[in-house]
Amino acid sequence: MVLFLEAKRVLSWLASLIWLLVLLITATSILPCNGGSITSSYVRKLEESEDMPYDSDVFRSPPGYNAPQQVHITQGDSEGRGVIVSWVTVDEAGSNKVVYWNEKSKKNKKEAEGYVTTYKYYNYTSGYIHHCTIKGLEFSSKYYYMVGTGNSSRTFWFKTPPPIGVDVPYTFGLIGDLGQTFDSNNTLTHYEQNPTKGQAVLYVGDLSYADEHPFSDNRKWDSWGRFVERSVAYQPWIWTAGNHDIDYAPDLGETVSFKPFTTRYPVPYNNAEGSSQLWYSIKRASAHIIVLSSYSACAKYTPQYMWLQKELEKVDRKVTPWLIVMMHSPLYNSYNYHYMEADTMRVVYESWFVQHKVDIVFAGHVHAYERSYRFSNVGYNLINRNCTPVKDLSAPVYITIGDGGNLEGLTTQLTEPQPNYSAFREPSYGHGIFDIKNRTHAYFSWHRNHEGYAMKADSTWLFNRYWYPADDSNTS
Ligand SMILES: [Fe+2]
Repeated sequence: MVLFLEAKRVLSWLASLIWLLVLLITATSILPCNGGSITSSYVRKLEESEDMPYDSDVFRSPPGYNAPQQVHITQGDSEGRGVIVSWVTVDEAGSNKVVYWNEKSKKNKKEAEGYVTTYKYYNYTSGYIHHCTIKGLEFSSKYYYMVGTGNSSRTFWFKTPPPIGVDVPYTFGLIGDLGQTFDSNNTLTHYEQNPTKGQAVLYVGDLSYADEHPFSDNRKWDSWGRFVERSVAYQPWIWTAGNHDIDYAPDLGETVSFKPFTTRYPVPYNNAEGSSQLWYSIKRASAHIIVLSSYSACAKYTPQYMWLQKELEKVDRKVTPWLIVMMHSPLYNSYNYHYMEADTMRVVYESWFVQHKVDIVFAGHVHAYERSYRFSNVGYNLINRNCTPVKDLSAPVYITIGDGGNLEGLTTQLTEPQPNYSAFREPSYGHGIFDIKNRTHAYFSWHRNHEGYAMKADSTWLFNRYWYPADDSNTS
């Protein structure tokens, strides 16, 4: 009898232990990661992405003689009261004029005169590429603008941002490495349909992927321009140069780097001495945005280095609390592809990012998604061999979002084990939304292309590094 009671006691103790284990396992899989690293288990289709054919409706040219096509806008000054309008005509140069008006004063139409340019690339000659900067716009206003003449003229609209201010909410979309495949079209559609409406896109480089085609077929730059017009004619995309935008091809006699990209996509780099079309900055709402070039010299004494050093000193977090840096090649990337490619830039600039408490760094290049915790690797030198990134609340969050869906396909090979700095990674296509709420809080979400619709697959709150530098690693 005693033996029976003893066995019963042991059994019930064992049962309790098993229950405890089950509870523990369930809890760790449901609770938010407390400093843990997650590799998403989502299983995706891995067919090669394919460029949409030229006769796809998304590439259709507008009807009419010399009708403007590939219309796109970007910020045209340092604070958001200017817009650069660009378009291409194919039959003749035509007019360089933009007619524009505030929706509240339709009778008060204004005109701005731009300029036209063309370029040749191997056996390709571009259409007539027009650029026109309109300035002195009112903040927080809807403007219509018209390009082209007569029956072929086309009218679009955009909204200017609110005045620069410390608590101004603003929503940026994040798109990278888009290309022009069926997946690219899904990504752009999902961005357009996202209920949290992006007001401007931070584009992290690699636009058309023309260089992936024989002789860097520059007609792909034209089709890409027609493809994205449906978004970028209505809201500014802020451009970053990628490696597929270099177009350096000495075998084709093309030795001027970034020729198609810089001819087609001007940026407001004249705002600061030492900036260039490849590295520049803008302020918009409550954000100071610094765009860097992964494919320009960045070492000490180079123009980019000298400019960035001064630019970081100019940032005033009391005016623009959110400090955003964009580049193409990610400084933190735990995929095998492009692994450590940007380490030169990391070694040179990371300590500045930490010193100036950059909030977030967006990059593309790797065709997948990854988000880091606030980690830094600035303690390293050749003698102490301290080369492991460590948690650092002054460091930015690094987001890799090169997952637009271009023809090169997804990056699926991951380094294992997942490093501690990596919070979440998933090789899927998608887009991001960076939603600034006020001076202290912003919400980042990543939206996977999921079997034909968009699904929020990762998100996190970011606490501003200047106004509220608390630990935000457990907010996903
Ligand atoms: Fe790239």
